[in-house]
Amino acid sequence: MLVGELRIHPDPEALARAVAERWVELAAEAARARGRFHVALAGGSTPRRLYRLLAETPYRERIPWAQVHLWFGDERCVPPDHPESNYRMVRESLLDRVPIPPEQVHRMEGEAEDPAEAATRYARELTSQLPLSAQGVVQFDLILLGMGTDGHTASLFPGTPVLRERARLVEAVHVERLGRWRITLTLPVIDHAHHVLFLVTGAEKAAVIREVFIGRPSPPYPVQLIQPRGQVEWHLDEAAAAELPEELRR
Ligand code: 6PG
Repeated sequence: MLVGELRIHPDPEALARAVAERWVELAAEAARARGRFHVALAGGSTPRRLYRLLAETPYRERIPWAQVHLWFGDERCVPPDHPESNYRMVRESLLDRVPIPPEQVHRMEGEAEDPAEAATRYARELTSQLPLSAQGVVQFDLILLGMGTDGHTASLFPGTPVLRERARLVEAVHVERLGRWRITLTLPVIDHAHHVLFLVTGAEKAAVIREVFIGRPSPPYPVQLIQPRGQVEWHLDEAAAAELPEELRR
């Protein structure tokens, strides 16, 4: 059930460079069309190389940083300087190296005593800054997403109530398997983005990629619940695409 365009790259470095090119193109397009580029960043480890590239020549100079607003797809409920913090990963690989106005970096408050209140505050900030889709849902220009080996994306994990949330924009979720609270954008926000780019690398993701693209697992994986109104691109490296049938790889 492939939804969107599939692009397979030889290795993680080639994938990061290709996605950096797309990032630059989409940033320029949004800045021209709407005066702003609102992008939600993925956490985890895969996008780290991409973020470092965006902070280096030639990409750094091609991005209209004064018009960029960086948001987060999800955050672990830890302080912003914690080794598990997505904000810390983004700060070290990108924020500390580019001239983005600090007020245009919108951090999820992972350190908050009450994650649900932090989620509500984040939703309020989204509503105050983002344009709305024709259906009245906040609309990102771009949402970057990774995917776990269980088919989760952002912090939308299998079997969690947030998968049924169709009204609220941001939710706090307790992930049993991790014994951790997280804050995440919900499916409606992902559905209404102009562009969604998945970055998936590594042999350990090959089996779930095959299931997601050609399987009919029941219940469906969280990534299979996305009903995108915009353009979706799957960027895989050869290792993650290794179990896809030939006809899909052309
Ligand atoms: C997070 C991410 C999560 C991530 C996947 C893949 O906070 O961990 O938002 O959804 O994208 O777990 O993680 P890797 O890129 O580390 O494989």
